[in-house]
Amino acid sequence: MAAVEPSSEMLNTVATWIARADLVCCMTGAGISAESGIATFRGPDGLWEGRRPEDVATPEAFQRDPESVWRFYQARRKALISARPNAGHFALVRLAELVADFQLITQNVDGLHREAGSREVIELHGDVRIDRCTNCQWETRVEGAAERSALPHCPECDGLLRPGVVWFGEMLPPGAIEAAQLAAENCQVMLVVGTSSLVQPAAALASWAQTQGAKVVEINTDSTVLSSSADVHLRGPSGEVLPALVAGVRILSEPRP
Ligand code: OAD
Repeated sequence: MAAVEPSSEMLNTVATWIARADLVCCMTGAGISAESGIATFRGPDGLWEGRRPEDVATPEAFQRDPESVWRFYQARRKALISARPNAGHFALVRLAELVADFQLITQNVDGLHREAGSREVIELHGDVRIDRCTNCQWETRVEGAAERSALPHCPECDGLLRPGVVWFGEMLPPGAIEAAQLAAENCQVMLVVGTSSLVQPAAALASWAQTQGAKVVEINTDSTVLSSSADVHLRGPSGEVLPALVAGVRILSEPRP
């Protein structure tokens, strides 16, 4: 594993791996949205700092105190109103156009990949802007963060609505992990961007890909539990590293005279 600054020749090596690949997979986490002003989970100022995830991000917490849980997710929806995709999100849209096949997998619930223009994103942890009925499974995607004086209820059956995110202890959306595992198994390069690689099953995808022969490239401002086993750690903000990497892939993909 080599940790390098974005401008080194290691970027060219990774760009070459990507340009030669039949399938490139990219797994993103909260770090890719940090440059859009969205808080990450861990570390100072993270969403879990001073808060126990089990108080706001479990089915038990919602049963016990739905108002508190809704307050937490309403605040996250509000933070998204002014958030826009950043250069890292847009670089992944361009990358998908340059390579033979591309699969984007995200742990993020902010919808910024789709807003940037990425299609067919596997959203392992759901979408924070979805309201879903706990009784009949009716759901809708809400824009913005409407002020709510009372707990929201389903227009179809009056059941309590919940945010469409995956909580600790819950199953991932049907088919999501299977599709992600298939992509990890078949890719030649797995980019792991802006995630602490601590939450399963998402974290296992990189080692699964590596076991199947893929190069694992971590892009992160810090070292993580993945750093020592990744083939390369490109250290830096994804809003800078990804555009530089994609520029390298573009040069390699241009037809030669
Ligand atoms: P974390 O907050 O655990 O990790 C964010 C990672 O992004 C850290 O490793 C940072 O070093 C890195 N980072 C921060 N800014 C960056 C930048 N500009 N460029 C590149 N890297 C940067 O977030 P996740 O790994 O996404 O799950 O968290 C995984 C899951 O844990 C979340 O989906 C959520 C949480 O509990 C659920 O709520 C189910």
